[in-house]
Amino acid sequence: MSVLSGKKIVLGISGGIAAYKTAHLVRLFIKAGAQIQVIMTPASKDFITPLTLSTLSKNPVHSSFFNEDDDNAQWNNHVELGLWADLMLIAPATANTLSKMAIGNCDNLLIATYLSAKCPVYFAPAMDLDMYKHPSTIASFHALHQFGNTMIPAENGELASGLSGEGRMAEPENIIAFLEADLESKLPLKGKKILITAGPTYEAIDPVRFIGNHSSGKMGFDIAECAANHGAEVLLISGPSHLNVKNSNINLIRVVSAQDMYEVCHQYFNTMDVAICAAAVADYRPMQVADQKIKKTEDYFSIELEKTKDILASLGQIKKDQFLIGFALETQNEIENAKLKIQKKNLDLIVLNSLQDEGAGFGKSTNKVTFIDSNFSIETMELKSKETVAQDIINKIIQQYHA
Ligand code: CTP
Repeated sequence: MSVLSGKKIVLGISGGIAAYKTAHLVRLFIKAGAQIQVIMTPASKDFITPLTLSTLSKNPVHSSFFNEDDDNAQWNNHVELGLWADLMLIAPATANTLSKMAIGNCDNLLIATYLSAKCPVYFAPAMDLDMYKHPSTIASFHALHQFGNTMIPAENGELASGLSGEGRMAEPENIIAFLEADLESKLPLKGKKILITAGPTYEAIDPVRFIGNHSSGKMGFDIAECAANHGAEVLLISGPSHLNVKNSNINLIRVVSAQDMYEVCHQYFNTMDVAICAAAVADYRPMQVADQKIKKTEDYFSIELEKTKDILASLGQIKKDQFLIGFALETQNEIENAKLKIQKKNLDLIVLNSLQDEGAGFGKSTNKVTFIDSNFSIETMELKSKETVAQDIINKIIQQYHA
């Protein structure tokens, strides 16, 4: 999945021949899963029509502060557009537009939106080779760089003037690749390795029966997606679950029993930065597993159980710098018991699930949690979707590394 997926992008188009390429650029953004709003300068309409771009972007195109032909015209709110955007790209950025951006000459909607935008701004220059090298253009680049904007350098090749050299707007595919690489390198968990356990475990009784639980794995899978979307390399170790992963930065290892999960966790834990144990691991397993299917010959039948290994506690014992997060489900003295668990299992953070709230827990799509850290600071959250709880957990990890 592209890092651009779900991103809200304002594409500002200024008046150069490369504007014709923005039709393809918009298509690539849409294909990557982004939402696009297009702003055109008046001059750019000589090179490509607003109809083409509104059709491809699936949104009306903005080009003036209001429609002069319509007495009831609505004000095109550049502040709203600027705040809506997660990212603004000006492509093609002509020498004229770049110079207006550099000095704040706000005479069209594109520049007004640029000046209002709080998001990262990228620009892809397009002009003739001598214009590209002119000291005034270079001064614009320098000023924009100082403002924190990022240039997507022009490419070398044939120019509209017939000359050949540097100044061609980067090809749409290269603009997308540049943005993806830049955004990925800035993701807050880039370079971090996170191990996550999820789902139930099945403890065999005989070849066809097992002891298990109703965990769907959703909480762990949501945490994995969220961590990967923030740049982490994720190892997801899941017990039996129907769920699948979307992000290619998640390596999913499927296991069955608590012992399998324990072994895989220990195989990889040393190389991890963070471990989150969200699995509903069986606490007990049958002492004997029958080789053959057990026949119903007896009226009463009992199975002797033994404790499984506590994976979370075992990771707590060997952890070095790893940030270790566990879950707890308590029915009484919730906070006190959770605090004891932090100490007993040597955790950095515990996510306390409440059973008291309707909509929270196993098989549900929502959860209500309280965070308690190793200093016993407590933060109680609202009832939220599991995706949002996953985001809250990932935010805690981001805080840990970017405090
Ligand atoms: N856990 C684990 N391995 C086990 C049991 C639990 O890794 N064999 C982890 C779970 O993934 C979760 C936390 O421990 O992060 C859950 O603990 P919980 O079930 O609330 O309590 P227990 O530690 O099992 O203790 P008790 O049931 O006595 O409260």
